[in-house]
Amino acid sequence: MSAALPLALLTSCALLWSAAASDNCYDHQTETYSARFSPAGCTKTCTVTPFFSPDTSISTYVSLIEEAQESIDIYTPGLRSWSYCTDYKEECEGCTGCSIEAQRNESFPVFPALLNAVHDRGVKIRIVTNNFTIPACPGKITPFDWLVLNDVQVRMYTTTTFQHAKYITVDKGKKTAVSSVNWSYTSFLKNREAGVILEDCTCSAVSLYQSAFDYDWDNGEDYVITQTYTPSEMAVITNKAHMPYTVPDSPGVPGAFVTQLIKHDNVAIKKGYSSPDSSRDTIMSYFPQVQQSFNLAVYQVTDDGLCDELLSLYNRGVNVTVMVSDYIVSEYDYYKAQDCYKKLYDGGMKGRVQYAYSKFEFSHEKYWIIDSTTIHLSTGNWSPSDFPTGTSWKPYSQSGKSVNRDLEIVLEQQDMVDYFYRVYDADWALGKPWEPKSLTHKGH
Ligand SMILES: *[C@@H]1O[C@H](CO)[C@@H](O)[C@H](O)[C@H]1NC(C)=O
Ligand SMILES: *[C@@H]1O[C@H](CO)[C@@H](O)[C@H](O)[C@H]1NC(C)=O
Ligand SMILES: *[C@@H]1O[C@H](CO)[C@@H](O)[C@H](O)[C@H]1NC(C)=O
Ligand SMILES: *[C@@H]1O[C@H](CO)[C@@H](O)[C@H](O)[C@H]1NC(C)=O
Repeated sequence: MSAALPLALLTSCALLWSAAASDNCYDHQTETYSARFSPAGCTKTCTVTPFFSPDTSISTYVSLIEEAQESIDIYTPGLRSWSYCTDYKEECEGCTGCSIEAQRNESFPVFPALLNAVHDRGVKIRIVTNNFTIPACPGKITPFDWLVLNDVQVRMYTTTTFQHAKYITVDKGKKTAVSSVNWSYTSFLKNREAGVILEDCTCSAVSLYQSAFDYDWDNGEDYVITQTYTPSEMAVITNKAHMPYTVPDSPGVPGAFVTQLIKHDNVAIKKGYSSPDSSRDTIMSYFPQVQQSFNLAVYQVTDDGLCDELLSLYNRGVNVTVMVSDYIVSEYDYYKAQDCYKKLYDGGMKGRVQYAYSKFEFSHEKYWIIDSTTIHLSTGNWSPSDFPTGTSWKPYSQSGKSVNRDLEIVLEQQDMVDYFYRVYDADWALGKPWEPKSLTHKGH
């Protein structure tokens, strides 16, 4: 596939990211998984810096990688090349890749930053991701192939249906980031996304994430490179010279509030938890405690039970607002989400459910603010796959249910919560109320 692809094909490739229940070429779970990681809080406070796309996610990721001296562990659902080296026509079919010359010029800055970490500083890098079963075409190479050929260790997730967490930890917890950011151009530079960088935060809430990572690593399958390369090609691929690269300034989203990186000290880490494990019980345990307000920003609400919780909060007088993406990749999810929003609308929440600012390609962030004092941030959506019921999960082939790995965090510190509020209010002010309409899925 050539480096320059028509826009139409790129757009249709958004389909690849669909996670509808029927599309499960990424599912490699063979054994039942039982809940094993319990929620934990930290006894000491941490320094926390929130970050948001489209403004600071790419600089945040690249800086974390550049700071690493010893090790980097990464959870990412996938890696979409910024140079069109991972595109393909049919979901779960065919092959992909670029020529070696074109892949070498990958414009996704995380790619050269990772290679420099290995070559310049001998950093040990481990990545847990999903196997979409799309190998490199003959004569081509993909970003993951390239990284693996340069001693970046990549394993394919098998613990449950899908690895959906977005996590990076540097030098064994020196700095850790948890966010909604997919490794795609859109996610870094066109969507609203939200995350937090945790510093000086080696405590039980955060070590839980590392335990989940280590478990999934141990359970994962080694990445298999499909193509073979000649010695002269290998010399290009494994060239250890420092790779210069530029981190693009955010093109910004016209009219949107521009966020900044602001460090907050003395942030209480009230809880860290993981999906599937305890995620549903934990999220549910917070609803009865809400007193005055509940402000949700999430890509989609497709879970019936969580949707009902929003309505019951509203019915007992809580000031509930729900801000969601107007563009949803998966058609199945799109219709599920409309069902929820209609239920809320019919239940009296007219004007309280809004599409976020439509100039974001996706409003893909996942956070909620309780009583103006507590921030909950998640790598997963309000979907049955991210907050699944039960305590053990059979493979999809036996249960017909998708179950994701995700991470969640609960934080308290007033200045930081106020900053999330500023972003929330700004996005809300530019959004538009959800109204019942004839259902046409805009995405396709
Ligand atoms: C983000 O990545 C996940 C995992 O691959 C995918 O299910 C989802 O559709 C992507 N979201 C967007 C908005 O691209
Ligand atoms: C890669 O980048 C170099 C330097 O910018 C340029 O000379 C070369 O043409 C590029 N190659 C491809 C295949 O894009
Ligand atoms: C993905 O899984 C398939 C089996 O379903 C396997 O043949 C392939 O090698 C795996 N891909 C990678 C990159 O490991
Ligand atoms: C409810 O919350 C929204 C968002 O914070 C705020 O703009 C609005 O004034 C609140 N309404 C009431 C009645 O408190």
